[in-house]
Amino acid sequence: MEPYIIAIDGPSGSGKGSLAVKVATQLGFHILDSGAIYRLAALKALNEKVDIQSEQDVLAAIEQMKIHFETGDELTTPFLDGVDVSLQIRDEETASAASVVAAYPSIRQQLLNIQQNFFQPPGLVADGRDMGTTVFPDAKIKIFLNASSEIRAKRRHKQLIGMGLSASIADLQNDIEIRDERDRTRSVSPLVPASDAIVVDCSMMELNQVFELVMSHIVDVNNNQV
Ligand code: DC
Repeated sequence: MEPYIIAIDGPSGSGKGSLAVKVATQLGFHILDSGAIYRLAALKALNEKVDIQSEQDVLAAIEQMKIHFETGDELTTPFLDGVDVSLQIRDEETASAASVVAAYPSIRQQLLNIQQNFFQPPGLVADGRDMGTTVFPDAKIKIFLNASSEIRAKRRHKQLIGMGLSASIADLQNDIEIRDERDRTRSVSPLVPASDAIVVDCSMMELNQVFELVMSHIVDVNNNQV
């Protein structure tokens, strides 16, 4: 079968990352965590101490960055300029800088090729905000995964507690709603479902149920191709 792409988009905390890993593992496909690319770009800008509010300065820093990923048994490790930065890209400072950097059109353009190069045989599962609309508009299967902000805040809260950290659900929900609004209303690649995406509200679903649903669409599409 021809290599193909499965695009999984949605807001933060919708569970698309876990879903993407599960689908890619099942199919033996490569995986693109495009959010990690934006986080790496933001970390590069922070490391170079450039003014994050200056699109030009951030772009100049990013043009020099060297990134790669190493895939182990379960985890994919991101490297920035040869250094393992798996922990740094997940911290709050980098997350917040990533959301600023991701709104700059020239940065999105600069990171486009890097993302598209992840598409290699036998196929790719790409997770992000604009996989199905901008980066891979020809993806064979497009999923837009959503969940209410309340459920996403509760899931995030559980994760933080599991990591030994504390936070209030109300604060988390508020942060999520502010980020959603910024992602949906930005001028370039806003967070919207592609017109041909399958929209799944997973507020009341377990990961396994979402996985089964997505796999059933993949089987359908593949059967129709034979
Ligand atoms: O999914 P995440 O939280 O790791 O994403 C980090 C930031 O990058 C977040 O602010 C949204 C942004 N992003 C984006 O604009 N486009 C993508 N395809 C992926 C992430």
